[in-house]
Amino acid sequence: MRIFVTGGAGYIGSHTCVELLNNNYEIVVIDNFSNSKRDVIDKIKEITKKDFVFYEGDVTDKALLSKIFKENKIDAVIHFAGFKAVGESVSKPLMYYHNNLESTINLLEVMNEFDVKKIAFSSSATVYGKPDSLPIKEDFKLSTTNPYGTTKLMIEMILNDLYKSDNEWSIAILRYFNPIGAHESGLIGENPNDIPNNLMPYIMKVAVGELDHLNIFGNDYDTHDGTGVRDYIHVVDLAKGHIKAIEKVLKSTGCDTYNLGTGTGYSVLDIVKAFESVNNVKIPYEIVGRRPGDIDACYADPTKSLKLLGFKATKNLEDMCKDSYNFVRRSKHE
Ligand code: WQD
Repeated sequence: MRIFVTGGAGYIGSHTCVELLNNNYEIVVIDNFSNSKRDVIDKIKEITKKDFVFYEGDVTDKALLSKIFKENKIDAVIHFAGFKAVGESVSKPLMYYHNNLESTINLLEVMNEFDVKKIAFSSSATVYGKPDSLPIKEDFKLSTTNPYGTTKLMIEMILNDLYKSDNEWSIAILRYFNPIGAHESGLIGENPNDIPNNLMPYIMKVAVGELDHLNIFGNDYDTHDGTGVRDYIHVVDLAKGHIKAIEKVLKSTGCDTYNLGTGTGYSVLDIVKAFESVNNVKIPYEIVGRRPGDIDACYADPTKSLKLLGFKATKNLEDMCKDSYNFVRRSKHE
């Protein structure tokens, strides 16, 4: 079976490529390196000792997509490629709507032309907005507070409408909670080109001395210690969730949505303490004001993914913190 992976050099994309190759899938990858490093492609090959087809390019380039589908017999697609910085999306909404929507519509149109109607889509728990209760189930109300999240919600709606128009489609919409961690080799991990937005890249920068402290955005939330609570999931677990999703879309039709989380919420201070303890390193921090748009707490009800995909995260918080630190130390010394 051959899987087309858009954004396969990215954080979640690269870890998913490793799992696909380890599970004996052929893969064809496209990436424009807008938020990933060129050497990740070689690192995927180094980890798996397997080769694969790679195209440097942009998913908004419909002619390139057609060329790829002409040159490779594709059985299914995993679509990661897209801009994902919440803050940037607020200041540059048109760039986000243009890129994320045009690339997806191009991809779906070319898939249709080549009669490839099986796709797993990278969505996000951000589509839930501020939940009325916890844990979050897939049928909870959806509301977004930033253009990035709205592009994810719009694409979910496009996929649902596509299935309604043609029941031959097989679609898995995957709502990620908070991916952190890195492959145990330390060769790939979370290494954004831009200024990091997320918590763990900042903690990693403090751990290796690039920053002298972490800013903790508020400690007056309605949580056990006042800092924000999230459902952190090891990126390798998340990648394995994609294998389960691809197995599902390859053998059936339909359009369904799945939470990919652990079901456990940890606060910012929980993460800092776990990172310090497992890595024997100090993470100095300062409590500062809340970040606009942040919610108190968010964690998944993972029941449906276990029941319908057979997916359950297995790595714990210590694994996530250990693997993150291993990656950042290794990438600092390259
Ligand atoms: C986690 C917690 C912050 C940085 C975002 C996107 C979501 C998904 C994951 C793409 C919060 C706190 C953070 C820092 C801090 N991305 N924090 N200091 O906001 O839950 O989700 O990333 O799909 O769509 O919305 O993740 O890692 O930014 O924040 O105190 O320097 O860490 O307030 O409580 P978030 P995050």
